[in-house]
Amino acid sequence: MSLRQIHLLGSPVLRQRAQEIGVVGDEVRALIADLFETMRAANGVGLAANQVGVARRVAVVSVEGAGPEGGEHVLVNPVVLESEGAQVGEEGCLSIPDIYGDVRRADRLVLEATDERGVRRRIEARGFLARAIQHEIDHLDGILFIDRVGALKRRRLLAEWRKARKGQEGLLRDVVPEGASRL
Ligand code: NI
Repeated sequence: MSLRQIHLLGSPVLRQRAQEIGVVGDEVRALIADLFETMRAANGVGLAANQVGVARRVAVVSVEGAGPEGGEHVLVNPVVLESEGAQVGEEGCLSIPDIYGDVRRADRLVLEATDERGVRRRIEARGFLARAIQHEIDHLDGILFIDRVGALKRRRLLAEWRKARKGQEGLLRDVVPEGASRL
């Protein structure tokens, strides 16, 4: 396993529609392990392959809780079968650090996704888990949460982002595990 660099807003791979996975083999399993490791090191609750520069349909989520409320899920080639209800809540993104906005999402989802063993599974999700899954599936379609906040709010968030990024170059972020930078 290894930590991967995270692509930041402006990196073209975040806007690509990720390609379907054919067979879940060792290469895909290594990608899944790296996504989990990088997500945890960055204190995230989800990470999509686009965000580490790989435009393939693979994402992971880890939300506290059990059953439809939480848990760890591997999402290879996810397909939403049913969605209903609505919820509005704050989202952020490891590719747009320190920027947050309220996003409207479906409250309940039934989806199908392949896991790390290549088994197609049906997943039911509610509340924050449903939110996290919708956010990650958006990534696989090249969509970011700032696309879903409304035009005025988006302009404000982008201005905030540009201000925060002033003087910084590059569109890759090194993930440093918590504590590692402290002596
Ligand atoms: Ni994100």
